[in-house]
Amino acid sequence: MDPLPATIDESSRLLAAKYQVTAWFYDLLDAPWERLYRRWRPKLLGDLHGDVLEAGVGTGRNLPHYPPTARVTAIDLCTAMLRRARRRAAQAHCPVELRQEDAIRMATIDDASQDWIVATFLCCVMPDHLQPASLTQFQRVLRPGGRFRLLEILYSRQPHIRRRQQRLARFVERVYGARFDRSTLQYVEEAPGLAIRRTTYLKDDTYLLIEGERVG
Ligand SMILES: C[S@@+](CC[C@H](N)C(=O)[O-])C[C@H]1O[C@@H](n2cnc3c(N)ncnc32)[C@H](O)[C@@H]1O
Repeated sequence: MDPLPATIDESSRLLAAKYQVTAWFYDLLDAPWERLYRRWRPKLLGDLHGDVLEAGVGTGRNLPHYPPTARVTAIDLCTAMLRRARRRAAQAHCPVELRQEDAIRMATIDDASQDWIVATFLCCVMPDHLQPASLTQFQRVLRPGGRFRLLEILYSRQPHIRRRQQRLARFVERVYGARFDRSTLQYVEEAPGLAIRRTTYLKDDTYLLIEGERVG
């Protein structure tokens, strides 16, 4: 495994190690869900422009959907995931730079340098105790008025959906490090300098899109 910076948080290091293995079969494993996600990705990304930071780019599923008006810096903790993202970066309609970087530090991303931040299925993977730190970084690197879109998966309040999710929960955590019970919306609500403008469920009450902007 490629070395991670010594300053990296221990839980990020464990997550990166997990994804170093998961990367081998990630796209295959995710294929049933991707049939759903690929309908959403063009709508989530088609109107973006300027400097866009994608956090937790994974195997680069979003990259072919950015319009030519975007300049994308795409970060991920895990070098094996970034290697798989390269092929999709080559298919992109806009410039894409891939970087190994931790979303809770963003040491290589300048203050107020980004018009947009996008993260799809990052926060459900990121441990709760790290989420406020990543939101602090989002606020720092966004330009004033810069906007963000976060797509996350949550436990449903509908018993039949929740039961299905509960059956999957152990597998999802073991393989993806993801949980359905993260408190991402609450962290964004509480994040200084970020304001939520809209929340939308894309399917049932499980796939939550959180949109907002930097206000401070
Ligand atoms: C479930 S995958 C989602 C991939 C992609 N965004 C998508 O929509 O298919 C989560 C990704 O986030 C990355 N990740 C997790 N924690 C991170 C962090 N603190 N900084 C950067 N990337 C992180 C993982 O390595 C993994 O590639």
